[in-house]
Amino acid sequence: MKIARFSRIGFILAAAGSAVGLGNIWKFPYITGEYGGGAFVLVYLITVALIGFSLMIAEMLIGYKGRKDTVTSFETLAPRHKNLWKYAGFQSLAGLLIMTFYSVVIGWIFNYIVTSLTHLPSSVKEAEVTFGAMLHSDFATQLFYHTLAFVIVSYIVSRGIKSGIEKLNDYLMPALILILTGMFLYALTLDSFGKAFAFMFAPDWSKLNSEAFVAAVGHAFFTLSLGMGAIMTYAASMEKGSNIVSSALWVVFLDTTIALVAGLMLFTFLYQYGSGPDKGPGLVFISMPAAFYEMGTLGNFFAVIFFSALAFAGLTSAVSLVEPTVQYLIDRFGLTRTKAAWVSGFFFYVVGILVILSNIEMTKEYFTWDGKNLFDWIDFLTAAVMLPLGGLVMSIFVGYILPKNEVEATLRPFMKGYFNIWYFSLRYIAPFALFIVILNLLGVV
Ligand code: TRP
Repeated sequence: MKIARFSRIGFILAAAGSAVGLGNIWKFPYITGEYGGGAFVLVYLITVALIGFSLMIAEMLIGYKGRKDTVTSFETLAPRHKNLWKYAGFQSLAGLLIMTFYSVVIGWIFNYIVTSLTHLPSSVKEAEVTFGAMLHSDFATQLFYHTLAFVIVSYIVSRGIKSGIEKLNDYLMPALILILTGMFLYALTLDSFGKAFAFMFAPDWSKLNSEAFVAAVGHAFFTLSLGMGAIMTYAASMEKGSNIVSSALWVVFLDTTIALVAGLMLFTFLYQYGSGPDKGPGLVFISMPAAFYEMGTLGNFFAVIFFSALAFAGLTSAVSLVEPTVQYLIDRFGLTRTKAAWVSGFFFYVVGILVILSNIEMTKEYFTWDGKNLFDWIDFLTAAVMLPLGGLVMSIFVGYILPKNEVEATLRPFMKGYFNIWYFSLRYIAPFALFIVILNLLGVV
């Protein structure tokens, strides 16, 4: 059987599709709002350049050299202690855990595409009530759209790398870029653009406490899809001889540009029509619909294409969260792709239903521990604990365990003299920064 591989562009689009997700368009703007703008953005950009880019290359390298699911790749590449290293690959199960709430949020977005067609809330107050009603009491709607997300994602993954994942990204990524560019150009014509620009880029150092610092590092990581094995699994299907370094550069560039463009656009709209930037997690679901309302009929149009773009971003990331587990089930247990895709889907679908219930007024007490509900717990456990830990393990694996001459032989042709800088950053800077993030989470620093 001929093994399906990504085309060159196909790989870049798929990896960028994984990176560009709800993290860019939903999370990045609201945490930027919470941490006061400019200084936070600067730390995030420096982290992306210094640590994110190095780790992106490292994660691609493991996949590219291993050529299998994450467990098998670690196992075959480790020169010693293979039986121990293979456990590093189980990190990819974090993807299914993330999917339990990612799919629910994609469901909310589907719901907002449909309702924005006909109705927008006339005030932030009303928007808050609408969102709260869906979240806390409308089980049926959330279940319906969560089911839809589950079916779409599982179907795409069941079609495989070439005719499922690559094709999805070939369509949705250009569409996403087109929509954001269009809305960004419109934002450029509005008076408030300057204000949004100043908010995002004029650093106010007084706002930069250690919490903002750690949040910026953590986010740089999440937004690039690092530490989980998604990028690694895609890289296993790269063509032999592909340029890992330029691919990584493209992915980082696209992810960062899209986050900045989306942020500038959203803040411009919020200054112009809404209530200003700091609105927390509800920014996209509460402040934005109210701002769209102020724009009149054009607002309905903008709302629908905006939420479509958000859905596209979510779906292309979702498939990358499931694929590592699917690849594992195929490589290690000999499951057919179809079976592997639906079995994995079924897992996040069922747990996802519990996640919905953990937000519903009537049932939430059964799914809340220590003041956090199931949704918050899974988000915390994955994004805040498992991913930084996974990244730490990967940086150690490539920086200290893989023989330097092997790493150098693969990468130097693409990096020339920059190889030494990269290797240094991977061995010393990245693990150190991730270590601090983890200590911070544990409440040590
Ligand atoms: N990067 C995605 C976002 O910004 C989230 C995501 C997708 C992810 N796949 C991942 C995060 C793998 C970590 C690992 O929304």
